[in-house]
Amino acid sequence: MRGRFITLEGIDGAGKSTHAAWLAEAIAARGHRLVATREPGGTPFGEKLRDILLHVPMAHETEALLMFAARREHVVQVIEPALDRGDWVLCDRFTDATYAYQGGGHGVPTAQIAALEAIVHPGLQPDLTLLFDVPLAVSRERLLRSQAGGRSLDKFESEEQAFFARVRTAYLARAHEFARRFRVIDASRPVADVRAELAELVAGW
Ligand SMILES: Nc1ncnc2c1ncn2[C@@H]1O[C@H](COP(=O)(O)OP(=O)(O)OP(=O)(O)O)[C@@H](O)[C@H]1O
Ligand SMILES: [Mg+2]
Repeated sequence: MRGRFITLEGIDGAGKSTHAAWLAEAIAARGHRLVATREPGGTPFGEKLRDILLHVPMAHETEALLMFAARREHVVQVIEPALDRGDWVLCDRFTDATYAYQGGGHGVPTAQIAALEAIVHPGLQPDLTLLFDVPLAVSRERLLRSQAGGRSLDKFESEEQAFFARVRTAYLARAHEFARRFRVIDASRPVADVRAELAELVAGW
């Protein structure tokens, strides 16, 4: 039986990575073999592109093209083989992030992103997308706090508030458009509360 493809989405600082680790363990504890991965990245080639994408200035279209180039390798080398074996795949960001960041945030037309999506993963969509939603002020505060811990902000994290407002709006619009696949999670709550909601979900798997 084919595995389940679950993606985590949300603006920077929403808590995707925080909850990804816990979710991976919880899914494994339910007896499912799981591949936990992330985008951009997920393959050695993709990780090289990630480094470029997060740090080198480039045209918005270039950014979209590189995201999808990394994604194609990720789909071919990692995601499809895992799902075919029956493994579950938990992916920290996928194509919804390109619609939100390059589309909503940077103004790349949705039709262009859809055309790339059709080349890169025809017929493949997540079975479930968890959208960690937080007001901008909350994610900003978290990012600044993690920065105080010695980490510097990458190219996207350094964007202005208006950029994140557009990204968040684009995410919420996609959640509305693809309501059957998305679950919007109020990630402004304490970690334990968010986790309790996830635990309820996982209990049904
Ligand atoms: N519910 C929460 N309450 C308080 N702090 C949180 C919560 N969730 C995450 N954090 C903290 O906020 C920071 C950002 O979280 P995390 O790295 O998980 O976000 P992310 O969505 O993965 O961000 P990015 O898109 O930049 O990778 C971390 O320092 C984390 O500990
Ligand atoms: Mg993260």
